[in-house]
Parts: sequence; structure tokens; C-alpha cells
Amino acid sequence: MLAYSLGDGVQLRDLEAWHAPEFFAAVDGARDYLRPWIPFATKVTDVVTARELLQRFAVFRAEDTGRMYGIWVDGKLCGGTLFKDFNAHMGVCEVGVWLVPEAAGRGLVNKAVKVMARWAFQERGMHRIEWLCDPANERSIAAAQRLGMTVEGVQRGSWMLNGERKDTMVFALLATDPVTWIRD
Ligand SMILES: CC(C)(COP(=O)(O)OP(=O)(O)OC[C@H]1O[C@@H](n2cnc3c(N)ncnc32)[C@H](O)[C@@H]1OP(=O)(O)O)[C@@H](O)C(=O)NCCC(=O)NCCS
Repeated sequence: MLAYSLGDGVQLRDLEAWHAPEFFAAVDGARDYLRPWIPFATKVTDVVTARELLQRFAVFRAEDTGRMYGIWVDGKLCGGTLFKDFNAHMGVCEVGVWLVPEAAGRGLVNKAVKVMARWAFQERGMHRIEWLCDPANERSIAAAQRLGMTVEGVQRGSWMLNGERKDTMVFALLATDPVTWIRD
């Protein structure tokens, strides 16, 4: 994928190591908004750490175990989506999402995840896409529900963020779920 149009000047593209300065600028500008929910909002502190993260995902892409995409609005990086994990053998993957606050509320993540999910289901034959979030993250929960994902439960005390132990709410979408956009 070089660039996939999501309409209205919005593009979904691979987010690669050479985007590190742009990625750092987007994260840095949205740090307070992202930090309660997204580990990289703490870990990406400069262009070097931004590049390190993108390079790690370049390795995941080469291994077919993860992928990172960016969402550009009128040429500006405004967020992204990722396969945090991609297990082609098991047919199970996990999607992650983030936006700068100015880009939220426009359905951008909704459109981007649909593109990724159709690719995962239709082209890669995946069976299950997971969406994990903090039960306190209302916007993330709403975004998962808007996609037709099913809530499966809460894993108590299952991860740490910024030194705090957190629960994880688990959503998933299966290739066999009666969600029409999967088959568009
Ligand atoms: C979670 C997050 C990505 C959700 O962003 P979002 O823009 O609300 O998500 P969606 O793409 O589903 O867009 C839905 C919003 O766009 C609106 N919208 C406009 N056009 C739309 C369309 N064509 N399709 C769907 N929604 C559309 C919806 O009405 C909704 O607006 P509302 O929130 O005012 O009700 C964002 O809040 C974020 O980045 N948060 C911080 C990081 C984070 O928490 N990441 C998730 C970690 S698990």
C-alpha cells in the first residue's frame, strides 16, 4: 500500500522509519491527549525514539507479525492505525488506533480500520481481529462498538501504563460475524 484514499483529502499510508520527524511532531503535539491510553505517547520522546519504534514495526512487517499505518489529512500526519500483533498462522490479529485531538470526531479511525479489516479478512484469510482498551476509555469503546465489535469481557489487572496497573477490555470482530461492511 503506497497510499489509500479515505476520501476528503484523507489518506491511509504505511508509516515508515523515514516519517520519524513527522511522527514525533504529531505525538508530541498530542501527548497529553494520548498519554493516558497509548504507551508510545510516553516512550516517543524525540525523533530518535520515534524512528526506533517505526523501525521495530518495519521488522514486524518483514516478519508478517505487525504493521503500522498513518492517517494523513490534507498532507499532515494526524493519527494512525496499527496491527500491534498479526498472527497469520492462528488467524488472529490486534488492531490499535490513535488520532491527534483535532482529527477526532470525523470517522477517520472507523474508515481506516475498515480498510485494514477487509484486507485482513478477505486477502489474508484472518479469522479474528481484537481491539483491547482501558475500560475507562469511552472514546475507544465507542469506536469499537461503532465498528460492530463484540465485547467479550475484562481482563483484570492485565497490563501496566505509566506505572499504573490497568484492566483491559476485550472487543473482537470475527470474519463470520453478521457485520455487513466486512464483506463490502
Ligand atoms: C479512540 C479514538 C481514536 C476515537 O476517535 P474517533 O474519531 O472518535 O473515532 P471514529 O473514527 O470511530 O469516529 C467517530 C466519530 O466521528 C463521527 N463521524 C463522522 N463521520 C463518520 C463516519 N463516516 N463514520 C463513522 N463516524 C463518523 C461520529 O459521529 C463520531 O463522532 P462523536 O465522537 O462526536 O460521536 C480517539 O478518541 C483517540 O485517538 N483517542 C486517544 C488515543 C486512544 O485512546 N486510542 C485508543 C487506545 S485503545
